Amino acid sequence: MGKTVLITGATSGIGKAAALALAQRGYQVIVHGRNPGKTEVIRKEIIAESGNDQVSVVTADLYSLADIRRMCADIHERYSRIDILINNAGGLMGKSRETSQENFEKTFAVNVLAPFLITHLLMDLLVKSDDARIINVASNSHQLNAKPDFGDIQLEKQYNPLRAYGNAKLFLIWNTQHLVGQLQRDSITNVRAYTLHPGAVATSFGVGSDLGPILNFVSKLARSFFKSPESGADTIVYLATAENVPGKSGDYFVDRKPAKKSMKYFTAEREHLIWNYCLEQTGLHR
Ligand SMILES: NC(=O)c1ccc[n+]([C@@H]2O[C@H](COP(=O)([O-])OP(=O)(O)OC[C@H]3O[C@@H](n4cnc5c(N)ncnc54)[C@H](OP(=O)(O)O)[C@@H]3O)[C@@H](O)[C@H]2O)c1
Repeated sequence: MGKTVLITGATSGIGKAAALALAQRGYQVIVHGRNPGKTEVIRKEIIAESGNDQVSVVTADLYSLADIRRMCADIHERYSRIDILINNAGGLMGKSRETSQENFEKTFAVNVLAPFLITHLLMDLLVKSDDARIINVASNSHQLNAKPDFGDIQLEKQYNPLRAYGNAKLFLIWNTQHLVGQLQRDSITNVRAYTLHPGAVATSFGVGSDLGPILNFVSKLARSFFKSPESGADTIVYLATAENVPGKSGDYFVDRKPAKKSMKYFTAEREHLIWNYCLEQTGLHR
């Protein structure tokens, strides 16, 4: 049986390009989107362009933990194994702090809590694979913009969209390495996890985010130099498909190579604190 890959945020940009590239390579692709109509259109497009009809759809609004739980229950009913989970959906919010219906800051909800919960809820399907890979799309913003406050993880006091985004991608990287440590302690050797920076990519990313007049102008100008979604998807597709990925599970990749992560705010205690915070916020307890 061929390999099954689930990719979140596959309705646009990097995720859509990665989904198409994997369908073209013959993978069974589960395309995630939040809008059923839009996601179905993308599914048909991918089938038409790839000639692979093993492309299906799951939907959830990733701001909502309840909806993620419903989607993962649906995945359990429809699939017996997942080989590759690509937590790609994410984004940069605007200059005013916004919360989800469940009262999570939206950057934190979609970039941190969603991949955390999806990974936990689908782990039983991933361990059934001989060579499972979890690929979490982070960003070099964890180096450029992160400034975490461990007493105010969701920035209730000093919100700034770039800081929230940098923090979220830093926490995503920490959660990935924490997961790898836990898998090793549990002697689970058939599941690896990676993070990556896709580069500066011309997608819908940040387009609707009102960062204020100066940053809006700078980001519009900079976009003309960005790479294509296909090129932005390259490291994701590489991590999903390469026989021998260099480096080790838990590494952070740029342009197909293991790269240095920011160590500026890292301590093992802080990594643990964020992990436990996510366990609590998602209602998962070990
Ligand atoms: N573009 C860059 O330069 C860049 C750089 C570094 C990292 N990244 C990361 O790359 C990943 C992909 O971004 P992109 O550039 O391809 O941006 P994009 O074109 O805006 O695509 C984002 C995808 O995530 C989905 N999504 C966002 N919020 C969601 C929610 N609440 N529920 C369900 N789906 C949601 C979007 O769905 P809709 O189609 O419904 O909006 C879309 O499919 C993100 O994690 C981003 O942080 C991007």
